[in-house]
Amino acid sequence: MKLLFVCLGNICRSPAAETVARTLIDRRGLAARISCDSAGTGDWHVGEPPDRRAQQAGRLRGYDLSGLRARQLTSADFRHFDYVIVMDNQNLANARVLQSANDPARLVRLLDYLPGQPLREVPDPYYGDAHGFDAMFELLEQAVAALLDELVPA
Ligand code: 4NP
Repeated sequence: MKLLFVCLGNICRSPAAETVARTLIDRRGLAARISCDSAGTGDWHVGEPPDRRAQQAGRLRGYDLSGLRARQLTSADFRHFDYVIVMDNQNLANARVLQSANDPARLVRLLDYLPGQPLREVPDPYYGDAHGFDAMFELLEQAVAALLDELVPA
């Protein structure tokens, strides 16, 4: 199963989600069955590493984001991946434009997998402070765990 996490810039939320997912997938012994990647709907940061604040907040929780580089979402991604998992409604609208009717990928919002959570969108921490990046990781850890529970029932 191939998962693609998508946000706007691919320097904050989706590289964080990809790294959290990879960590949980390893921890659950699912690495041979599930792979993950991330992309942004925009092209402003293509080729750049994740935002320093995302790297720092991740480091404090034991995640290393330093090796990732931003890339832009393409229509080919909808043929390659099984799930395209977006962070917010703007990502959803931008991604829909690239998807063709018979593409196999399921286009979903990450927070739809987190029951009991009133938020339906992962807030964009880009224009905020360090607290926003830590809160982003907290939310992503919960949501990605719930996503994996749904995709691979115990
Ligand atoms: P991301 O955050 O979508 O979580 O990577 C953003 C990064 C950059 C910009 C917006 C959001 N930007 O406008 O450059």
